[in-house]
Amino acid sequence: MALRTIVTEGDEILTKRAREITEITSHIKTTLDDMAETMRAEDGVGIAAPQVGVLRRMFIVEVDDVYIELINPEIIEMEGSVMEEEGCLSVPGIVGTVERPEYVKIKGLDRNGKGVVYEGRDLLAKAFAHEFDHLEGVLFVDKATDIKEIE
Ligand code: CO
Repeated sequence: MALRTIVTEGDEILTKRAREITEITSHIKTTLDDMAETMRAEDGVGIAAPQVGVLRRMFIVEVDDVYIELINPEIIEMEGSVMEEEGCLSVPGIVGTVERPEYVKIKGLDRNGKGVVYEGRDLLAKAFAHEFDHLEGVLFVDKATDIKEIE
């Protein structure tokens, strides 16, 4: 495993729609491993492949010690609405208030190509929605109100 450089706001890759993964190669699995190491080193709760410069549809989240990898994710249900402050490893030093679903049901593939479905509430729902946005080329600052700097 290796730490990857996190791409930051201003880099075009963060504004592009990521491409479907048609084959889960060893390169894809290594990228997932590196994403996990990078996310943990930065105390993040999630990271999407475009944030490490890989324009493919996959992300990971880790909330309350539950670690989830999703390849080609699709949100199949959303409920509720919460306005909360959030940040992003690709937009260091900035937080903003974003409207997010309170509940998200999402499906995708795991690294073995097996279909998986997850349900998330609260922080996990927010993380799913935030990371999914990255695959669509959307950053939280595109949606946020009350953007402010933090120390
Ligand atoms: Co982010």
